[in-house]
Amino acid sequence: MAPSAKHFMFLSFFSLIISFSIAQTSFRPKALVLPITKDVSSSTPQYITQIKQRTPLVPINLTLDLGGGYFWVNCEDYVSSTSKPALCASSQCSLFGSHGCSDEKICGRSPSNTVTGVSTYGDIGSDIVSVQSTDGNNPTRIVSVHNFLFICVSNVLQKGLAKSVQGMAGLGRTKVSFPSQFSSAFSFKNKFAICLGSSPSTNGVLFFGDGPYNLNNDESKALIFTPLITNPVSTAPSSFLGEKSSEYFIGVKSIKVSDKNVKLNTTLLSIDKNGFGGTKISTINPYTIMESSIYKAVANAFVKELRVPTVTPVAPFETCFASKDISFSRMGPSVPSIDLVLQNDVVWNIIGANAMVSLDNDVICLGFVDAGSDFAKADQVGFVAGGSKPITSITIGAHQLENNLLQFDLATSRLGFRSLFLEHDNCDNFNFTSSV
Ligand SMILES: *[C@@H]1O[C@H](CO)[C@@H](O)[C@H](O)[C@H]1NC(C)=O
Ligand SMILES: *[C@@H]1O[C@H](CO)[C@@H](O)[C@H](O)[C@H]1NC(C)=O
Ligand SMILES: *[C@@H]1O[C@H](CO)[C@@H](O)[C@H](O)[C@H]1NC(C)=O
Repeated sequence: MAPSAKHFMFLSFFSLIISFSIAQTSFRPKALVLPITKDVSSSTPQYITQIKQRTPLVPINLTLDLGGGYFWVNCEDYVSSTSKPALCASSQCSLFGSHGCSDEKICGRSPSNTVTGVSTYGDIGSDIVSVQSTDGNNPTRIVSVHNFLFICVSNVLQKGLAKSVQGMAGLGRTKVSFPSQFSSAFSFKNKFAICLGSSPSTNGVLFFGDGPYNLNNDESKALIFTPLITNPVSTAPSSFLGEKSSEYFIGVKSIKVSDKNVKLNTTLLSIDKNGFGGTKISTINPYTIMESSIYKAVANAFVKELRVPTVTPVAPFETCFASKDISFSRMGPSVPSIDLVLQNDVVWNIIGANAMVSLDNDVICLGFVDAGSDFAKADQVGFVAGGSKPITSITIGAHQLENNLLQFDLATSRLGFRSLFLEHDNCDNFNFTSSV
């Protein structure tokens, strides 16, 4: 027997003993679950989750940021007997790619409030975090991570977030985002799934780990897959030179309205060496924002296919109709289909409920925003300073994600997606009654 094989056998025997002793002393969850609440108390909806942190444990509400790199909290009233600062040059600091070091020898980074685009420096620390595990059907036992990393900031960063919120939970492509930390703490696959509900009175759901994801049915089986793309240049409001984007990009190759190809400048659909262009997914932007020429082409095709007169638009939208002219079905307003044709030649079909936004005053609008509009320009987040050219050509926003199950697989770099309306299901259907 070769020495290397002997060595391997010894190692696997050894790790068997270790995992056996872990199994005896502590429960190892396969997946975790968190509720998502749609908060409509601020100017734009925010999707909020709640974890417990600190000793003694306190509930902390956090705005979810799908592409956010970090977990940051307002430390103004931080009381805990288990919090530990990350000392400069520690492995924790390097996980953050931190270059900063305070007089107290604590490392830090500048996380962003991606709702407002404001960034501020904060110390990196760790503390206990406690969440519910799941078998995919219900929440099960509560589990804890003892040294969960976060950035501690002053309360200036919180401005612009929903009232009950104390920070943001980044789910993005970094080593310290929620999915990365949970998967490494419990050694499950670095996958997570998000399902945003459309109503403030019910809960959507966030899973860390693999399926089943049981809503009415196990919807992990309904997913369609497309590759995730890495943008080589950070798209965050604050970053270091050479850092990749922590946001999730997918490859939109073309757009169809009523099965007809919309003529677009396809250069805008790919990401160039400076990180411009392409398509990303965001839970922070309430509606899909499209570069001006793309928006105009899609909106024109849509109006032509719908054959209904437009009415005076209501900001931030530019393409609106009288509600009485539109019929409704189980899938929402009956309007021409809008398809994003993706890499692998799979199609993301944006159904009526996701394509349209009903406003109070009998008006219904195409729920996409023109990046060249005054509304989008006033909101400088994601734009070249002073200009109207968006860094990213298409940002798929939260309204278009509601009642879609999205699974992000970081190990294989692919996105699974499915509109649950097509499965006669929706994101509110997870049973949050604990089964233990
Ligand atoms: C957190 O959010 C929940 C549900 O939206 C709310 O009931 C609770 O009061 C919030 N907590 C804090 C500390 O504001
Ligand atoms: C297409 O977009 C690229 C990138 O913004 C731009 O440089 C080019 O001029 C555009 N082409 C046309 C025909 O508008
Ligand atoms: C939710 O789960 C609980 C615990 O397993 C179960 O008793 C209850 O019947 C479930 N509710 C529904 C509506 O299925």
